[in-house]
Amino acid sequence: MLKKKVSLIKNPARKYQLVKGMNDILPDDQRYWFFIYDVLREIAQEFGYQRIDCPVVENTNLFTRSVGEETDIVSKEMYSFIDRGGEDIALRPEGTAGVVRAYNEHGMVNLPQPVKLYYVGPMYRYDKPQAGRFRQFYQFGFEAIGELEPVLDAQQILIAYKILQRLGINALVQINSIGCSECRPAYQNLIVDFLKNNKNQLCDDCKKRFQKNPLRILDCKEKKCQELLVNLPQTVDNLCENCRSHFVRVLEYLDELEIPYNLNSRIVRGLDYYTRTTFELWENEEEKGRQNALGGGGRYDNLVEILGGRPTPAVGFAGGIERIISIMKDKDVSVPKNPEPDVFVAQLGNEARKKILKLMEQLKKAGFTIAESLAKNGIKPQLELANKLGARFSLILGQKEIIDGTILIRDMKGGIQEIINYEKIIQELEKRLGKSQK
Ligand code: HAM
Repeated sequence: MLKKKVSLIKNPARKYQLVKGMNDILPDDQRYWFFIYDVLREIAQEFGYQRIDCPVVENTNLFTRSVGEETDIVSKEMYSFIDRGGEDIALRPEGTAGVVRAYNEHGMVNLPQPVKLYYVGPMYRYDKPQAGRFRQFYQFGFEAIGELEPVLDAQQILIAYKILQRLGINALVQINSIGCSECRPAYQNLIVDFLKNNKNQLCDDCKKRFQKNPLRILDCKEKKCQELLVNLPQTVDNLCENCRSHFVRVLEYLDELEIPYNLNSRIVRGLDYYTRTTFELWENEEEKGRQNALGGGGRYDNLVEILGGRPTPAVGFAGGIERIISIMKDKDVSVPKNPEPDVFVAQLGNEARKKILKLMEQLKKAGFTIAESLAKNGIKPQLELANKLGARFSLILGQKEIIDGTILIRDMKGGIQEIINYEKIIQELEKRLGKSQK
């Protein structure tokens, strides 16, 4: 306690810190984000997905109804509050509910189906912050709404797999089917029956799940709960005929696409809207808790109807950008650098400062990327900065050059400096940079 007080006195800026579980994305890291956004846009185009942006804030009941009142995400982790007008609103904990609301609200059921949408943005969960788990985190998601065909489930997995592959990650697909409203109740009963003699050994959360949603016990990370489940019959062996044949076809398509997968009966997912296929993409063979999933998704054939639309099947997934970036860094994946300037424009004195303001606009118009440090005096600090930024050339304008109608051009690699005609700057740069700028 005392220690904290002392450090606050020493450094008052520490009073104003990030809210727990939130992150700044600093300039050095932006290249990862740009790279990911580029890959998402490319893949969306390849597969015919259009971008949608829904608000960060929605009515709380959208999430209680779709993700499920009893899920951790809604019951423990949702940022919900009453706004000044008395509305019960929430920061979105995930993206699917908002996309389905928009599908219904904008009559997208009248468009050719499936409607294929993708999104990127921040999500909020009042989770326990730790490595790979934050309270604000970014997801990208792909949703195909309006078709029941199992080929679409496989295509979603292909999209997720391909995105990660382009980002330098060979993910492992974990796949399961949790059936539908016809076969799931029988499987839930089977779990209850299987655990009834040991239910007192379950963790407190699973004791509640035992009453309300026994399937979720399969997802529990507590070792003692997992041990009790070792000989539990698998969901995929207890599907109704329609769900079974749907699942078999999804797997056939994955085989055809040569996407490696593990059948994993523990993938039941933490959101209530799923039906049939559920999947996750992991980085490692071994599950190290929920943080290991780089993405996850599945079918949600009842959600459009639950949210007031016509019965409409759908399938989708979302990926977690922070987790993906952390793996990319671990793996040293090469990512395009923040662009280096072609030219650094340096000045000596107020007259030169005035003149280069116009020159910089001309250079930009000619298509050069430029950098400057208008506020600095003296040539040394300006050239140091030019070096640091990786500029290819520097242009240096001082009093003498203004009088002579010239400018100095310095090759930042060799340090050679030449005098050139001020009127010929653009031609000279085009020649030296070996490209004709627009
Ligand atoms: P989810 O599994 O809850 O699914 O989240 C998807 C991904 O978001 C996770 O695999 C993980 O990478 C990332 N993520 C989740 N929570 C956190 C956190 N606290 N900190 C950092 N990253 C996190 C969904 O949200 C579903 N809406 C996916 C979906 C789309 N299903 C159908 N369509």
